[in-house]
Amino acid sequence: MHDQKILIIDYGSQYTQLIARHIRENKTYCEVIQPESINKKNNFDCVIGVILSGGPNSVIENNNYDLPDILFKNDIPILGICFGMQLLCKKFNGKIQESISREYGKAYLKIKKDEKIFNDLDKELEVWMSHGDSVTEAPVNFSIIASTDKKNISAIKSNEKEIYGFQFHPEVTHTLDNGKIIYNFVKNICNSTGRWTTKNIINNQIADIKEKVKNDNVILGLSGGVDSSVAAAIIHKAIKNQLTCIFIDNGLLRLNEKKQVELGFKDFKDIKIIYVDSSKLFLERLKNITDPEEKRKIIGKTFIDVFQKEAKKIKNAKWLAQGTIYSDVIESAASSDSSHLIKSHHNVGGLPKDIGLKLLEPLRELFKDEVRKLGINLGIEEKLINRHPFPGPGLAVRIPGEVKKEYADVLRQADDIFIRMLHEKDLYNKISQAFTVFMPVKSVGVTGDGRSYGNVVALRAVKTIDFMTAKPFDFPFDFLEEVSTKIINNVPGISRVCLDISSKPPATIEWE
Ligand code: XMP
Repeated sequence: MHDQKILIIDYGSQYTQLIARHIRENKTYCEVIQPESINKKNNFDCVIGVILSGGPNSVIENNNYDLPDILFKNDIPILGICFGMQLLCKKFNGKIQESISREYGKAYLKIKKDEKIFNDLDKELEVWMSHGDSVTEAPVNFSIIASTDKKNISAIKSNEKEIYGFQFHPEVTHTLDNGKIIYNFVKNICNSTGRWTTKNIINNQIADIKEKVKNDNVILGLSGGVDSSVAAAIIHKAIKNQLTCIFIDNGLLRLNEKKQVELGFKDFKDIKIIYVDSSKLFLERLKNITDPEEKRKIIGKTFIDVFQKEAKKIKNAKWLAQGTIYSDVIESAASSDSSHLIKSHHNVGGLPKDIGLKLLEPLRELFKDEVRKLGINLGIEEKLINRHPFPGPGLAVRIPGEVKKEYADVLRQADDIFIRMLHEKDLYNKISQAFTVFMPVKSVGVTGDGRSYGNVVALRAVKTIDFMTAKPFDFPFDFLEEVSTKIINNVPGISRVCLDISSKPPATIEWE
């Protein structure tokens, strides 16, 4: 399917997805695979380059890691980063030693040789290091092409082939090369022709969907989030009214969610969206349930029940479309080797495998930023595309303890005021995720001449890149004062507004 690709072998680095995204930014398709599957034959179809990622392991402590010969068969360019460089050294009999002190953080690289990989860079470069073991002797037939001011061997290259090893991490922004190293590898060494563009992705996907689906019908659970919306848009573009979208209101959605979806798709005149209001059923099943995981399970199960019932009404439906994206695919592959897993999975809302429908996942190869670009290009409203993520169990994880309709109604209104104000003050796009949490505690307030006794809401806004760690957003005080007044004055039942300033870790982003 792809005429060119770069293969990234993931040894468990927290930066693997960053490497992949940088390659994609250079309009080149890449795939992340686990070391166990290197030997699978068709992995090497159309491969123009290989990157060996970093990782938490040590080639000294654990002798199991070895690079198979298939990697070196057709003289494909190879770049080993950190642990990847150490693997190359092990393969070609260089020397690696455990360092007495870990090299971590900023380092100053001195480039010793003019090499294509350093095109367009100064002779000195600030780079980011994070390693325990060090290469102390380059393999025979390799040259040292850069070292740090501490005289460490920081970059090596084979004298005969396009094989490079870097001790530092060119994929992180702390390496101040402006993305040129990865650009040079992709463009000047692997000779990518740069065909991975939004236009090409859309055209290829449309052809693929048409070929797979033929005259069958497709159903899709539309949530109002970016991924399912973009999946709907591209499938609709390919097969028009053979697609039916099902939007389920579980009573735990944000204010006017249905309207937001309608607005988002206002330029898709003939898209079929069935709106199902199941809020009563969801809230009934959540009655008296206080445990967060139990709430998640009930919501997930109820979603399946409602979706299956609706799906049965659609004739000739043979396909179930899902907005699975590439990070989901990589994370679930990596979680089979859970030794270094940081992120826990929130697996709710997924449909069972035995639903009797074939899976259609047109975004399976795309990262979130690529999905967003596709969405805009396909004509979905920008506001919908740039929305913050919203959890599958919705407001249920923002109402600690038992979920009640009156709590959800109050929370929806407060949250809408907060989010609207973020848009008005141009703060929304500076924040990764913002929302309001309902606290089922009462506090005294004074309204007019009397005392009131209302609930409390907390504002939560974080900045994060990967949602695994997060920092609270630093609001101007004026904004906080204004939003607090607005919420208390306009939402009956709220007497107090607090701000959540915890970082993740140790807190999580959601409250449950
Ligand atoms: P936490 O609270 O774990 O959240 O720091 C990290 C990200 O995951 C979202 N989240 C969920 N998403 N189902 C989902 O689909 C869930 O059960 C769930 N719990 C948390 C959260 O909104 C944040 O973006």
